[in-house]
Amino acid sequence: MKVLISDKLEKEAVDILKQKGFQVDINTELTPEQLKEKIKGYDALIVRSKTKATKDIIDASDKLKVIGRAGVGVDNIDIPAATAKGIVVMNAPAGNTISAAEHAFALMFALSKNIPCANSLLKNKKWEKKLLGIELYGKTIGIIGLGRVGSHMAKMSKGIGMEVIGYDPLIREEKAKNLDVKLVDLDELFQKSDFISLHVPRTPDTKKLINENTISKMKKNVRIINCARGGVVDEGALYKALKEGRIAGAALDVFEQEPLLDSPLLELDNVVVTPHLGASTKEAQVNVAVEIANSIALALKEGKFQNALNLSAIKK
Ligand code: NAD
Ligand code: MLT
Repeated sequence: MKVLISDKLEKEAVDILKQKGFQVDINTELTPEQLKEKIKGYDALIVRSKTKATKDIIDASDKLKVIGRAGVGVDNIDIPAATAKGIVVMNAPAGNTISAAEHAFALMFALSKNIPCANSLLKNKKWEKKLLGIELYGKTIGIIGLGRVGSHMAKMSKGIGMEVIGYDPLIREEKAKNLDVKLVDLDELFQKSDFISLHVPRTPDTKKLINENTISKMKKNVRIINCARGGVVDEGALYKALKEGRIAGAALDVFEQEPLLDSPLLELDNVVVTPHLGASTKEAQVNVAVEIANSIALALKEGKFQNALNLSAIKK
């Protein structure tokens, strides 16, 4: 059986698949048109976030049984198109949780202590002592989405003495209790938080969750962190609020359009940015590669599906 890997993936995944007898081809520079041709004859496709597994590409496949996403977010895969062809879409949800939460945490510190700005000033030979940061201790962080990443963010925030409140309509009260997080509604979260950290998937419900209207409910000193998905924050509204001094800052790892190279947000000193690096650690990349390789092997060899996202829809 043949597996095509179309994005950069740690070699552990290739080793696992080869050991299990799969033919593995790696081709990370294919254009969409080339992938459409190349996909024929493969039983599985493994992607990260660069490859867009569009309907066009999925429809062009002839033997494809599974698409594996080495990571959490599957917004680069047309799941309805895969379902219509009986192709199972699986992700590797747990492997990059710690890295993503640590990245959001690091962004919160960087923003509060002016680290990126100070770093670039000093490297340009400017000893600037006027930059004034804030402490995190005792501040309130509002976490939106208390799943894997949000929960770890909550634990770390507790660890440094922050008050943690959260909003997640889909979790059980008991989970919040165990995390020692007070569940509140969105309006209360907006009103009380000094920091707001987003940890939700991009869905129709979360699209532009942070917008002109919701920003107007926030404290003037709020700092917003988005290490979840672009599009959850309305970047136009965010820019306007930052520029007008209606909020204090933002730290962003993800954007409406990626790669983001040209945005007024990049000109603001109170904005800290990274180019979607939340899962870019050695550990996370090995974890997700191993996780997805094992899942693909299990699916193709034994017909057992773990972390399948559309299996029940296919079975209907
Ligand atoms: P998860 O599925 O474990 O958690 C998501 C949580 O969001 C769930 O608890 C769900 O109930 C909640 N949720 C869904 N809709 C909501 C809504 N409308 N309001 C409030 N809560 C809502 O996912 P995760 O593994 O914790 O990942 C969270 C996000 O982080 C995802 O978007 C994922 O793609 C992203 N992520 C980004 C990086 C990165 O590199 N920046 C790395 C890992 C994960
Ligand atoms: C994810 O959804 O897993 C992260 O955004 C990381 C990635 O895209 O690889």
